[in-house]
Amino acid sequence: MAEKPYQWAEGAVLEDHSRRKHKILREYFFNYLSVRCQIAQMERFRLAIVDGFAGGGKYSCGTSGSPLIFVEELKRAIEAVNTHRATQGLGPVEIECLFIPNDYSRDAIETLKANLAPLQAEIAANVPRLHLRVEYLNQSFEEAYPQIKQLLEQGRYRNVLFNLDQCGHSKVQRATLVDIMRSYQSVEIFYTFAIQTLLTYLQTTDPTRLASQLQPFDISVNDLQSQTLGMNKQHWLGAAERLVFDSFNGCATYVSPFSINNPDGWRYWLIHFANSYRARQVYNNLLHANSSEQAHYGRAGLHMLSYDPRHDDGLLYLFDVTGRESARDRLLIDIPRLISESGNVIGVGEFYEGIYNATPAHSEDIHQAIIDNPDLEVVTPAGGERRSARAIAVGDVVKLKRQTSFFPMFFDPA
Ligand SMILES: C[S@@+](CC[C@H](N)C(=O)[O-])C[C@H]1O[C@@H](n2cnc3c(N)ncnc32)[C@H](O)[C@@H]1O
Repeated sequence: MAEKPYQWAEGAVLEDHSRRKHKILREYFFNYLSVRCQIAQMERFRLAIVDGFAGGGKYSCGTSGSPLIFVEELKRAIEAVNTHRATQGLGPVEIECLFIPNDYSRDAIETLKANLAPLQAEIAANVPRLHLRVEYLNQSFEEAYPQIKQLLEQGRYRNVLFNLDQCGHSKVQRATLVDIMRSYQSVEIFYTFAIQTLLTYLQTTDPTRLASQLQPFDISVNDLQSQTLGMNKQHWLGAAERLVFDSFNGCATYVSPFSINNPDGWRYWLIHFANSYRARQVYNNLLHANSSEQAHYGRAGLHMLSYDPRHDDGLLYLFDVTGRESARDRLLIDIPRLISESGNVIGVGEFYEGIYNATPAHSEDIHQAIIDNPDLEVVTPAGGERRSARAIAVGDVVKLKRQTSFFPMFFDPA
């Protein structure tokens, strides 16, 4: 599909699927700041945001694009966080943010400067606890990356968010994603990836061209061929998609590919990379609140990434009521199995670390499936039993009861 250049100076058109993506980004970023500024003793939170494909900041309809969304949410969050802290008798937090918007189009960057200036002026005048420094860059993302890294290192930023909203699938190297995820203590990436464009243009009958298309993902043609032997076209595409996802899966501890369908039918992924289960948990819950547009491929339950196109026939986990019901059924089976594999007992924190790389489930459904399961019990640090799903906490332990009712094959009689 030929890429349409954005006309930022004349007014770019915002499409519905991007609106949905913006809503997720906006809500996630606000939640991120609220969660990170919860610590009672905290006085200052420092973070850096890199918007690698920033665009001009406003669409022709007047709606904000990603760079304005970040700054608007910074302003909204610091006000909400400090109001909340005051009600708890806690001191206010200051936020110090380095914001690096980059776009290779000069038009985009000049338009963005004009669009961001009034908001910056308002923050400087009226939001004294928000210290915002903006460093504009005007290069292709890969060319800008060394400079971005230098800016982050100079400022010793440990909390870093990247938004890599590329058009297409080829403007960010996998090696760069790996480098980002390894370079900072707390780092997350939102990455747009046009999976269907890649699949559509795979040169299936020309091994040399196919090899060069798969090379950025470290997938060999032999791997693909050995895993797709005898498959029909649909299953072949499913397997290729799976291999591409596996390649991204190696970039971070928690990787969620959510499909977004745009009206032309060009499905793309919004992938969230994180190294902490808490980030993934917040993200999963938020996607349930935005269920209409996106789906996680694979099945429901804990092992949704065990999707096998030969057997599951392209089943999607949809973040809707039916999806959640089937997830709850699946979780009733998956959770005791995982606990049995862990030696019949596991701390809740360790349990989260183990599951969140592979489940799209809502935390409420996971907790409810534990409480509803007659084979499991949750024990508090004081040794009592939890009876409410909402009360389950990171310090608790989940145990498989010795008298299992329907799970004998996982029960160790010794
Ligand atoms: C989808 S738009 C970005 C929209 C913006 N993130 C938002 O949410 O409003 C993609 C932008 O990437 C820019 N772009 C395309 N290729 C690029 C590259 N290799 N490096 C940096 N910017 C690029 C385009 O000029 C365009 O403004």
